[in-house]
Amino acid sequence: MSGDTSMSLYREGNDMSTAFRLAEIPPQQRAKIMVVANRKGGVGKTTLVSFIAEAIALWAGKKVLIVDTDKQCNLGAAYGVIENRSQDVAHSFAGQAMRGIQEPIIHPEYYDEDGEPGMFAVRSSSAEIMKENGQDICPYGTYIQPDSPHLGKLNPMNGMLDIIPGHSEELNYLHTHADKYPARKLYEKWESWLIDYGVVEGYDLIIFDTPPLDAELNEALFQLADHVVIPVQPAKDTLSACNTITMSCIAANMADNRIHQVTTLINPLNSGNLTQKEQTLLDPIYNYAAFGTLPKGVMFPRSRIIQERRDIEVPAYLDPESFESLNKEEKKRAKPPMSSLIWGKKSDPARQKLFTVVNELHNRFFGEPLPLQKD
Ligand SMILES: Nc1ncnc2c1ncn2[C@@H]1O[C@H](COP(=O)(O)OP(=O)(O)O)[C@@H](O)[C@H]1O
Ligand SMILES: [Mg+2]
Repeated sequence: MSGDTSMSLYREGNDMSTAFRLAEIPPQQRAKIMVVANRKGGVGKTTLVSFIAEAIALWAGKKVLIVDTDKQCNLGAAYGVIENRSQDVAHSFAGQAMRGIQEPIIHPEYYDEDGEPGMFAVRSSSAEIMKENGQDICPYGTYIQPDSPHLGKLNPMNGMLDIIPGHSEELNYLHTHADKYPARKLYEKWESWLIDYGVVEGYDLIIFDTPPLDAELNEALFQLADHVVIPVQPAKDTLSACNTITMSCIAANMADNRIHQVTTLINPLNSGNLTQKEQTLLDPIYNYAAFGTLPKGVMFPRSRIIQERRDIEVPAYLDPESFESLNKEEKKRAKPPMSSLIWGKKSDPARQKLFTVVNELHNRFFGEPLPLQKD
């Protein structure tokens, strides 16, 4: 299987040196690329992406871009950059009809100073990067910006967080037309967007959120990744991803001679402390170095704050200028649901667990620990 995967990602007729452009850029001159993946849904992929991204932006002062490639569009929705368009019910499945089509909001930089359509795509999504050539696709800023009025003194490190949201209809099209969008083609689209438009030079870290069960897209992203993070629970169906994803990463290593490292990260969805039985189930992930499992006891925190964040009403997207023009009451309502885990009390055990996990990841990505935090 590993041989087939690497072969399918080779460009026919090209020698190795030109087949993978990302491998030729010195690592210190480009963003680290991280992919969060597991074939199973509901394991915490999207949750991990936003918490890790925010923590590294705020605690390490890094420039972070997150990219949603899941047609459920949960990541973009959490930052207020997704809107629902109702759909003709007769032409849709029940699930889709209930939520309508989820698409990115009109890009705030779409209009130029005179109010005329400008140089960027009206709506920028990950699907467009994979379908078209991505030259006018522009990330959306979030409330984490160096000069963010939303955050003020809470962002002393001057980090930032941008996002490329998903688009339910377009991503669904790519999935159902996988024959026309094989892994190699998807890889090249991302590679071109990242390199030709300066994206890999503009950020320190780029994190991809992935859909469950999309073979071609996942293989393309593993080839792109420096690090693949696999959230797991003590349950066989989530753990089986360690084998399959690690095999894909080994194939990716052989294809481009670059390291595609795996990190297996326990995300105990429901229980803060693991039972003896759960620990036994998890034993195998410590037995094989290639799974990159974090040291025993280091795991993502389980917290009510994490769970509740999902249900908080996300206020409409506001660019910093519009935010500044609001009065005090309006500002309060317009504030996004930033996680108090990240800037909350340092004595909070969940925050300490999060810090330990992010510190480990930061070390793996950047070769150094998080800067020490002042109180
Ligand atoms: N560590 C955690 N503590 C509490 N709830 C969590 C945690 N991780 C995930 N969840 C909850 O589990 C659900 C599924 O998480 P999600 O990130 O959407 O998974 P996926 O992206 O893999 O489908 C969400 O409701 C989320 O809030
Ligand atoms: Mg998700």
